[in-house]
Amino acid sequence: MTKRIGILTSGGDCAGLNATIRAATLRAAQEGWTMVGIRNGTAGLMATPPLAEVLEPSRCDAQMLRLGGTILGTTNKGNPFKFPMPDGRVKDRANEVVAGYHALDLDALIGIGGDGSLAILRAIAARGGLNLVGIPKTIDNDVAMTEVAIGHSTAVLAATQALDNLQPTAASHERVMVLEVMGRDAGHIAIAAGIAGGADVVLIPEIPWHLDSVVAQLGRIKADGRNFALVIVAEAVPDEAGRKVASRDAEGKRRYGGVGHEVAARLAKATGAETRVTVLGHVQRGGAPDPRDRLMGAAFGVHAVELIRDGKFDRMVAWWNRRVVDVPLEKVVARSRTVDPVGPLVTTARGLGICLGD
Ligand code: F6P
Repeated sequence: MTKRIGILTSGGDCAGLNATIRAATLRAAQEGWTMVGIRNGTAGLMATPPLAEVLEPSRCDAQMLRLGGTILGTTNKGNPFKFPMPDGRVKDRANEVVAGYHALDLDALIGIGGDGSLAILRAIAARGGLNLVGIPKTIDNDVAMTEVAIGHSTAVLAATQALDNLQPTAASHERVMVLEVMGRDAGHIAIAAGIAGGADVVLIPEIPWHLDSVVAQLGRIKADGRNFALVIVAEAVPDEAGRKVASRDAEGKRRYGGVGHEVAARLAKATGAETRVTVLGHVQRGGAPDPRDRLMGAAFGVHAVELIRDGKFDRMVAWWNRRVVDVPLEKVVARSRTVDPVGPLVTTARGLGICLGD
């Protein structure tokens, strides 16, 4: 029997999604199976008729491997269980997603998403009896049970390059440059880029920070004869009042952003240093995937299809201890993976004399 596999991307986009879609399509073609690309995440399945097209292996060339974003489109809004309707009500539309799966005559679904999207997809699959396999993606790298999520590596590259570019201008003007990076409640991007990009201070949500510690670090740098510094701040670092700086979007979802300005203002006041702020934003999500994200996308896409071949569902492919493995989605969606405050990156940062604010 010819299998028809649906594939969708859900949640915020990132680099490496197309490499993943390509790999899954090519591996499925080896089995003689058809890959159906679903548009805009679960919204594509909710539509009547579903928004989808067959992905031809012949179109999955190396150019696709290099493409940023997702050719399928995605959304991080519109949870089908609480779908916002035009009249302001919210409606449970999960059954429509299930109906879209059957309308496309699918045998299995590959969902590429972060922890939030994978939890929603799993709940829909449970309700409708769908055969789901998950692939972790998010620049935040906070998906549980995997050391690597697609997109993180390219985001770290973007943040590292930002520090590379900020360094000469910081030195020329003798300024303290504050770089705010994404990552939601995890500091993975900040700590990795902070080490790779030579930051003097790295503030992450997992380690409470105190102004005095950062001021002391800037004082030490000055005493050593250097009159500039690089500070990297994760977007969910709390402000002076202990609150995360955020706004609410139309669906009432919390969106972080702005703490970099607060940190810079407090440092300027405490030290008299001239500060400037760069909020890196979605630059971290776009762009061509770096080799690691292409590699992870390829490995995850292939393994996802092999799980379907073996009839193993309700699982997520993962990278653990230098191996591609798969884990129960149940364990993935129960928690997220933040930076280990005594883990190797924190230890490395401390060993380099980087101030973590504590
Ligand atoms: O989860 C990925 C992420 O890029 C976070 O790092 C960030 O807080 C958020 O999404 C931004 O979301 P949006 O694209 O809706 O602004």
